[in-house]
Amino acid sequence: MTPPLSERVRSTSRSSIRHMFDLANDEARRGRDLVRLEIGEPDFDTPAHIVDAATEAARAGHTHYTPNAGLPELREAISRTSMHGSRGRVDAGPDFDPEREIVVTTGGMEALHLAALAIADPGTEILCPTPTWPNYLTQARLAGATPVEVPLDPDDGFALDADRVAGAISAATAAVVLCTPSNPTGRVYDEAAVRRVIEAAVSHDAYVIADEVYGGLTYDEPYRPVASLADAPEHVLTVGSFSKTYAMTGWRVGWLAGPERVVEQVTKIREATTASTASVSQHAAIAALTGPHEPIDEMAAAFGKRREYVVERIEGIDGLSAPSPEGAFYAFLDVRDWEKSSLAIAETLLADYGVVVAPGGGFGDAGEGFCRLSFANGLDRIEEGFDRIERAVAEKAFGPVG
Ligand SMILES: Cc1ncc(COP(=O)(O)O)c(C=O)c1O
Repeated sequence: MTPPLSERVRSTSRSSIRHMFDLANDEARRGRDLVRLEIGEPDFDTPAHIVDAATEAARAGHTHYTPNAGLPELREAISRTSMHGSRGRVDAGPDFDPEREIVVTTGGMEALHLAALAIADPGTEILCPTPTWPNYLTQARLAGATPVEVPLDPDDGFALDADRVAGAISAATAAVVLCTPSNPTGRVYDEAAVRRVIEAAVSHDAYVIADEVYGGLTYDEPYRPVASLADAPEHVLTVGSFSKTYAMTGWRVGWLAGPERVVEQVTKIREATTASTASVSQHAAIAALTGPHEPIDEMAAAFGKRREYVVERIEGIDGLSAPSPEGAFYAFLDVRDWEKSSLAIAETLLADYGVVVAPGGGFGDAGEGFCRLSFANGLDRIEEGFDRIERAVAEKAFGPVG
């Protein structure tokens, strides 16, 4: 007999983004010239002053475990200013008490995972307006909860439909996850709609998990943190990260900020999971928050230029459109008019044109008919990618228009 595997773990699946990533890596190993537009990771190197701070910390012997909640200086820095936006510093919103209301985590990923573990039980639901980042659905399952997709309307550019989301909240709801700016649509959710969702969550004694890892990258308006919109901020769990704004994906530093009762539970279970985030990475994160922000503003400005270029190219290709990216670094291409599924389109683009995008169906059922294009790549590569996509569209590579 074979010993069983966990049902919770078996009920999860790998995302189709990963599938494309693996296929692309295989092709790249064979020497193929690919334009990689599937990856949600800044192409920039971490700014030098941040790397220097980590090196110095390691040399100075900061190579030990840190408190489970993270270095006090880092929590302090997060509480003072948690994000650099493309228009200068974005206020962190409500004042979080660095000692009781902030826990440093191993990326935003761990903050989201442990938040789900801390607040959900079997029989509860975690609601995700979709299309959305698929890891929330996996994290809900790992917590024994049921992930519930609440589809947003593609014809409304996947704007946050507060009525629909509020209507899906019930006594079973442990949390609603709002990813804003959104991965994959690039939308920044309307403040009034966010307020309504928070009110509905409060009235059912549920939490709103605000995933704001892209909060430092907005293009039209400075970002307003979700917790700052809430009359009852004790119902909002804010997740932040150094990965995207500071080009620090590999350093693995993020945080959860919110009510003490949740932060305390998350800090408690960290003792048995990662114990603490890598000490040198935490020193790097302190430098990111307290050091010069010109290098960070330069990256944000580069993303702004790419976004303009991407919008222009999409408009210039007959039959292609996308909701305008207001934040993050994604364009969600509308391919509903084509005959093939989003996965088949992504596979065709890779196999026949050497350009890699992520199939929208991987972001929940509502994402089918779309492909996510990441502009976290140099302008020259983005240009080449669009030239190839343009050729594929001209050659009707995705089948006749349905
Ligand atoms: C929406 C969203 N949330 C959270 C994360 C996690 O980022 P990290 O764990 O690197 O902070 C990502 C990374 O791609 C993301 O896209």
